Amino acid sequence: MDFNLSEEHLMIRQAARDFAERELLQDVIERDNEARFPERHVQTMKELGFLGMTVDPAYGGGGMDTISYVLAMEEISKVDSAAGVIMSVQNSLVCYGIEKYGNDFQKDKYLRQLASGEVIGAFLLSEPEAGSDATMQRTTAEDKGDHYLINGTKNWITNGGCAGIYLVVAQTHPEKKHHGINAFIVERNTPGVTLGKHEDKMGMRSSDTHSVMFTDVKVPKENRIGEDGFGFTFAMKTLEGGRIGIAAQATGIAAGALERAVRYSKERKAFGKEIFYHQAIAFKLADMAVKVENARNLCLKAAWLKDQGQPYSLASSMAKLYCADIAMEVTTEAVQIFGGYGYVKEYHVERLMREAKLTQIYEGTSEIQKIVISRTLLKE
Ligand code: CAA
Repeated sequence: MDFNLSEEHLMIRQAARDFAERELLQDVIERDNEARFPERHVQTMKELGFLGMTVDPAYGGGGMDTISYVLAMEEISKVDSAAGVIMSVQNSLVCYGIEKYGNDFQKDKYLRQLASGEVIGAFLLSEPEAGSDATMQRTTAEDKGDHYLINGTKNWITNGGCAGIYLVVAQTHPEKKHHGINAFIVERNTPGVTLGKHEDKMGMRSSDTHSVMFTDVKVPKENRIGEDGFGFTFAMKTLEGGRIGIAAQATGIAAGALERAVRYSKERKAFGKEIFYHQAIAFKLADMAVKVENARNLCLKAAWLKDQGQPYSLASSMAKLYCADIAMEVTTEAVQIFGGYGYVKEYHVERLMREAKLTQIYEGTSEIQKIVISRTLLKE
């Protein structure tokens, strides 16, 4: 077993770190306060190839492995996980979903634009009454012969307002329950697609989260992904990979909080010495460091399994669960170490704590990951 990263991996990690520190850090607090989308930074992410990292170069992607993607996600999320989630949905849900399950026509027409970053994508599964219970899709896709007619509402959609291409999950045969669900590629400018409200979130405020409504939206049959009824499996399989990205994001949030706490505790003095030399602080930092290291290793293991073509559903859920939970713990401890300074915006750790909370909720709550993990144990 070799724990060393390759030269290429180190270069990618450094490129992501440089970008995050040079650009994202400059206005991250301001954008968070104003809930302002990082338009300029998304443009740089496009130029740096972060918006289609793992896509086959034949479709204009970077042809990198999942380990590279995880390393970049961690570095970007250390500084600004709103930028991280834009990149995560683009890469591991939308690009991957189309590349893995789309046909040649769909890849030619849509994947190219996404992989180059020309167009942003969004993944539309969640609904007002179908969050964790994704089988309960109320959005319908009626089969009209040469096209489908989509009606319904999707909620909490990351990139909902900025995306040009949507992956939409909808029910075609309600009597077949989840076996009747389909997934479609829908162009955002199709008549009948309208944006609902922009969500005013607790954290990752500068990422774009919208509800999206569909009223008699005509989608050509060739835009359906896979066979009739494949949509639920498509969503579940795609989310398995998505969870690795969110796990890496959570690791980045925790690592960012740890780095800041270590730096601060070497500078800040109390009771006659730097607070680092008080065991109350040093022991906290040691616990935080172990958690971050474990989280990183779980992410890399899940990414490695995916790259090896081995099953990774269990590993991705374990990584998502652990990384999100420790992100919450580590950021909370970081705020504690900073004391009063930690509770104000200038020192970043309160923002990291708010961001950590979302990683326990989206792409399957921590409880959903426990369902996936425990069911796998049951089958063993
Ligand atoms: N791959 C393939 N099929 C799967 C699967 C997987 N990973 N997991 C479940 N299935 C299949 C099962 O095999 C089963 O099919 P059969 O009936 O043919 O046997 C079917 O799905 C139902 O399985 P369960 O009985 O286990 O279903 P359940 O309803 O009890 O649990 C669940 C399913 C795991 C809870 C699932 O609904 C789930 O993962 N929910 C969370 C949804 C989620 O992550 N939403 C996030 C939204 S996207 C997002 O957040 C993106 C963003 O913007 C950041």
